[in-house]
Amino acid sequence: MTNSQKVKISPSILSADFTRLGEQVAEVTKAGADYLHIDVMDGQFAPQITIGPSVVAAIRKCTNIPLDLHLMIEAPENQVNQFASAGANIITVHIETCPHLHHVIQIIKDKGVKAGVAVNPATSLSLLDDILPDVDMVVVMTVNPGFSGQSFMESIVGKIARLRAELDKRGLNAELEVDGGVNEKTASSVVKAGGRVLVAGSAVFNSRESISDAIKRLRESFA
Ligand code: DX5
Ligand code: ZN
Repeated sequence: MTNSQKVKISPSILSADFTRLGEQVAEVTKAGADYLHIDVMDGQFAPQITIGPSVVAAIRKCTNIPLDLHLMIEAPENQVNQFASAGANIITVHIETCPHLHHVIQIIKDKGVKAGVAVNPATSLSLLDDILPDVDMVVVMTVNPGFSGQSFMESIVGKIARLRAELDKRGLNAELEVDGGVNEKTASSVVKAGGRVLVAGSAVFNSRESISDAIKRLRESFA
């Protein structure tokens, strides 16, 4: 695997202990996580209400690693300014919430933030054909948005491989992130299919080991 294909880990703080959020962010930072995944839900597109810009700003003060925001919200274009000002480095929106996706991607980039697009398990990759050259990241969901700790959908592995092939065929550098149920049992099939950023919530925060041992074990599972 070349360096540009190095697999990154993006721990999802949705599984963190919110009573000790600062400490847990410091721990993942020390453990060498590549990104920090922040799941923003609005109780509409996704069933719970999670994290807003003020919490993102607080997290920003605890770490220098890139903040990888996953917006599972309706009309995300109305919130981009606030999340960018709070310190986001990557903002991903769901194609299912964006009838004017190209416009939303431009709004994100105009703020100097990297732009990503996420696709739910039932959403066809064909809908991404025309936007792929404009995005910095594509997030393939291997669970339905809503909660951490759901089971990885094996049936989506083929979709990851098809997207990897399409990106390579077109010479596109968008990062391919995979989100949902990634753990030491499922990570190797994701990496084999071409996933290069692994989101991991429960595998990092809810394991019996320390956060750094959990990240180490996850990395070893696909090395
Ligand atoms: C699901 C979220 C995921 C989730 C990951 O809606 O987008 O990022 O928190 O958690 P695990 O790794 O436990 O599936
Ligand atoms: Zn997520």
